[in-house]
Amino acid sequence: MTDRKKVTLPVLFDKMAKNNPITMITCYDYPMAYLVEQAGIDIVLVGDSLGMTVLGFDSTLPVTMEDMIRHAQAVRRGTANAWLIGDMPYMSYQPSDESAVRNAGRFMAEASCDGIKLEGGKEVVSRVKAIVAAGIPVMGHLGLTPQSVSSLGGFRLQGKSAKQAKKLVDDAKALEDAGAMGVLLELVPDRVCGLITRRAGVPIIALGSGPTAHGQLLIFHDMFGLYPRFMPKMAKKFGDAGKVIGDGLKQYVAEITDKTFPGPENWFGIKDEEYDELVRLVEQEG
Ligand code: KIV
Repeated sequence: MTDRKKVTLPVLFDKMAKNNPITMITCYDYPMAYLVEQAGIDIVLVGDSLGMTVLGFDSTLPVTMEDMIRHAQAVRRGTANAWLIGDMPYMSYQPSDESAVRNAGRFMAEASCDGIKLEGGKEVVSRVKAIVAAGIPVMGHLGLTPQSVSSLGGFRLQGKSAKQAKKLVDDAKALEDAGAMGVLLELVPDRVCGLITRRAGVPIIALGSGPTAHGQLLIFHDMFGLYPRFMPKMAKKFGDAGKVIGDGLKQYVAEITDKTFPGPENWFGIKDEEYDELVRLVEQEG
């Protein structure tokens, strides 16, 4: 437990107003959430990236609401004070406003989230309005939106041309006007992110989109060498937990093999008289 205060929307807006950067990270389980809480991170996103980082799929598309709720509950148990966002998985909001409100409500009721995130711009405005009208804060997500990776032609920089960038500017405004509490910009050129940030009345969070946003997000597994398949340019390694765990596992195998593990400190004994009685009972039965 930490003694920090609960992060609320006014706390986030205050940081934005004072130009104090907002910290955000993805998180998928209890032990990670415990560490994130100790570090005092403002916003924790239970991202559907867990489909790739934790479940080993090639994309986020197979992730279900049940997966998301289970992981969000575990994360909430580890971090009582971060502003917790549940990421709406593929097809949990695309079909209708009604499905969007119902599934957003599940994050709030079943996992004690503080808000939800969904992908898209103008095309999801009616979803954002419906969820906000139900009293649920919404973070928008523009730029590289992994649920549309097929239409986007792969995991690549978005908004490179003036025309594409103008669409991002318009989409960010549309999300804000619809009531979004903030917008995440993933893999957008730095100056496009800067322009959107200057015009925004809600926090803009950058993931691989440069330094000028109100806050920064990274994917936990990229930061600590825990995603063996790929390390995106936008990520920075802040530690190598993957190496620590890998070395530890090799040592575990070696110590079992050479019989140095377990040692007496790792097991429990039984009193001589109880053991003698046990042997007598077993032998009595033949
Ligand atoms: O699922 C996720 O972690 C995300 C980030 C990539 C922004 O949506």
